[in-house]
Amino acid sequence: MSDDPKIRHLRELKAQSRLGGGEKRIEAQHAKGKLTARERLDLLLDKGSFREVDALVVHRTNDFGLDKQKYLGDSVVTGWGTIDGRLVYVFSQDFTVFGGSLGEVHAEKICKIMDMALKNGAPVIGLNDSGGARIQEGVVSLGAYADIFLRNTLASGVIPQISAVMGPCAGGAVYSPALTDFIFMVRGSSYMFVTGPNVVKAVTHEDVDFESLGGADVHAETSGVCHVAADSEADTLYLIRKLFSYLPSNNMEDPPYMDTGDDPLRMEAALDTIVPDDPSKPYDIKDVIRLIVDNGEFFEIHEAYAPNIVVGFARLGGHAVGIVANQPAVLAGVLDINSSDKAARFVRFCDSFNIPIVTFVDVPGFLPGTAQEHGGIIRHGAKLLYAYCEATVPKLTVITRKAYGGAYDVMSSKHIRGDFNVAWPSAEIAVMGPEGAVNIIFRKELEKAKDPEKRRAELVAEYREKFANPYIAAQRGYLDDVIEPRETRPRLINALEMLQNKRDSNPPKKHGNIPL
Ligand code: HXC
Repeated sequence: MSDDPKIRHLRELKAQSRLGGGEKRIEAQHAKGKLTARERLDLLLDKGSFREVDALVVHRTNDFGLDKQKYLGDSVVTGWGTIDGRLVYVFSQDFTVFGGSLGEVHAEKICKIMDMALKNGAPVIGLNDSGGARIQEGVVSLGAYADIFLRNTLASGVIPQISAVMGPCAGGAVYSPALTDFIFMVRGSSYMFVTGPNVVKAVTHEDVDFESLGGADVHAETSGVCHVAADSEADTLYLIRKLFSYLPSNNMEDPPYMDTGDDPLRMEAALDTIVPDDPSKPYDIKDVIRLIVDNGEFFEIHEAYAPNIVVGFARLGGHAVGIVANQPAVLAGVLDINSSDKAARFVRFCDSFNIPIVTFVDVPGFLPGTAQEHGGIIRHGAKLLYAYCEATVPKLTVITRKAYGGAYDVMSSKHIRGDFNVAWPSAEIAVMGPEGAVNIIFRKELEKAKDPEKRRAELVAEYREKFANPYIAAQRGYLDDVIEPRETRPRLINALEMLQNKRDSNPPKKHGNIPL
């Protein structure tokens, strides 16, 4: 204890601020199985690295008796710290103070660290746990939200922004996380919705509870709002640290290199037999990815959403890469509305932050049907095409099996500035699959044939022999090479290193008009 009364006073104020809404509310938070705002920061950041700002800020509202309820620091803890030694700005909403609700000074605190992050080129991680707009502050809190939304948007593509939802996140409050690059949610204790169960009941007469309206699994599987769902708060924070290891601090930096100890020249004989001889038989593209990347480590994004395409981060020879891969084990790897949206967003993230994109192609085409056409597959598929076309980061493409129709063009083909395009001998590259092609181009002949089924089988075999291979594309230079599957890892790493100083750009413009 210091003898100096001024120092003692300061220490008391700091201790009071650290207590947030007080012991009782902290106990209530723990009783719900939730950590406090500060405990979460302790798990997220390197030990002892957190430096708080604005711990002494108080709100300025006198209505509804708020003049008698002032909490030092108000309802959010803000500052900076490090993850694996790298600077990051953070805010963590404190549910023990006014339910973490967002008023004028709460937003000012967040805006202050966002402005610092943008100036200093470091990511922002926001831990959300809030009852939304502070009701007593009325329109002031709506304006305060908008101040954050504007900064989220201006920072987009300049610094990575990551959100974790660790409690309620309702109403317009959902739009700050939604504007950031990645949303993590905790199963069982976090939820996001624009209108809650009561309003839903009043307007649509639907009976729905918090979890099935906007819980982690709903957003991870059905809406695609959540990128990563975890089983506990500790897991969520650990996974954010893991994701962080693949990301540069800002759009002027390359992603961090890490010596993973995995041999860059490692051949994988298992890849030679991984694609079944029968083209209609599925296999798991994640097995392919794991055999190729460093130490088999693949950080998947949107794992449960549109699983017919797989996206995520990995390392090749220590270099961080973004991986996009059609998944033949789900819907034969077809491209549809949701998988197009999922992959387009991921490709654009990688391109914003200088992360090379490695694409594994096994796609029978776009999904036919009225549901897809009426849902706007043209518009959604165009997003993925646009995202690949505009991307200027190194683009590496491996065609493992099917690359049919428009989907061949879309999936990082040579024609849309693929830098290194190779195929395995099992590749089939053509306008459409043999059966469909034969039915169209030999329709008249088949109508007249004595034994149409026999003739169809002959024609299909002929078509397959002629077109369902990689060699016509290789003859034209649409592929740079046809490689043995086992050599995929060393060839990709070699190409990545060859492309290390790649420079490419798009015509100057204010911004493009991606078909949203
Ligand atoms: C002020 C709030 C508050 C809010 C909660 N509290 N939400 N204070 N403004 N929005 C306070 C409570 O009064 C209580 O204070 C403490 O926080 C904890 O709340 P409880 O209700 O006791 O907690 P719990 O039972 O866990 O319920 C949590 C909750 C519920 C589901 C979030 O509090 C709730 O429904 N709150 C209102 C949510 C809401 O409608 N927000 C506005 C959304 S519209 P004491 O003193 O008792 O501890 C919106 C528009 C944003 O946000 C637009 C942006 C453009």
